[in-house]
Amino acid sequence: MKRLLITGAAGTLGGFAREHLAGFADELRLSDVTPVTDLAQHETFVAADLGDKDAVEEVVRGCDGIVHFGGISVEKGFDLIERANLRGVFNLYEAARKHGNPRIIFASSNHAIGFYPQGQRIDADAPPLSDGLYGASKVYGEQLAVLYWQKFGVETARVRIGSCVPKPLNRRMLSTWLSPRDMFGLAKCCFAVPELGCPVVYGASHSDTSWWDNSKVAYLGWTPQDSAETYRAEVEAAHPPETVPEDESRFQGGVFTAYPIYQS
Ligand SMILES: NC(=O)c1ccc[n+]([C@@H]2O[C@H](COP(=O)([O-])OP(=O)(O)OC[C@H]3O[C@@H](n4cnc5c(N)ncnc54)[C@H](O)[C@@H]3O)[C@@H](O)[C@H]2O)c1
Repeated sequence: MKRLLITGAAGTLGGFAREHLAGFADELRLSDVTPVTDLAQHETFVAADLGDKDAVEEVVRGCDGIVHFGGISVEKGFDLIERANLRGVFNLYEAARKHGNPRIIFASSNHAIGFYPQGQRIDADAPPLSDGLYGASKVYGEQLAVLYWQKFGVETARVRIGSCVPKPLNRRMLSTWLSPRDMFGLAKCCFAVPELGCPVVYGASHSDTSWWDNSKVAYLGWTPQDSAETYRAEVEAAHPPETVPEDESRFQGGVFTAYPIYQS
């Protein structure tokens, strides 16, 4: 790949992407509202607010693939979510169809299905069950991806990311953890597969207590390399069951399911 766009490049996953996708494309084009200044030789930075249609078109132009991490990544008020996650995703897909249909990795979230009970196994066909405005914005993004695939042939991996952090931090994450290495192993498979389509993929490393079934995307050839089991004893000892708040242990979205609707 010549030029790969990473939106949200100044954020947590953007940072992991820069590390794990270095060398995957001749150029990593980084974009965010927050400047990234410590650029490597193979990186360029173009500032863009996702809510600004022209700016988004400018960053997408000339890219062969997109890893879309930009946007509001937690529960917030509607105005913030609207600009980045609703209008912003629309701007991204409009730019993609105008500029050669680059393949897109769309960072959806476990909060798109957050109200499924913990322990229930679901697959790609499970209807969304968002646990807040943020989760609902991810469902919208997933649906926009389907629309642009059906109408214009823009291919997207709709990755319902679990918890992408260096290691699981609590009991819930023993089921939702996605190692950064597995996140980008998955991204590489999605770019490499001859026909991607527009699948829902659960972004999680191996776990003996996984809630998510990826059998419908076996064609991607992705097998997680990391396992939450490596950390189970340590996490369970640090978080005895009686210390875990009920909100965290009831639904797949954890504490997000208990948040109010924020007004700003
Ligand atoms: N980290 C996880 O475990 C996880 C889990 C599920 C989903 N996700 C999704 O993955 C993506 C990346 O997550 P993250 O943890 O790196 O989030 P993050 O908040 O660290 O990074 C998001 C980046 O988007 C940028 N941004 C926000 N609003 C913007 C706008 N209007 N225009 C342009 N840029 C804007 C921010 O400046 C930030 O750098 C997000 O879409 C998030 O919803 C992450």
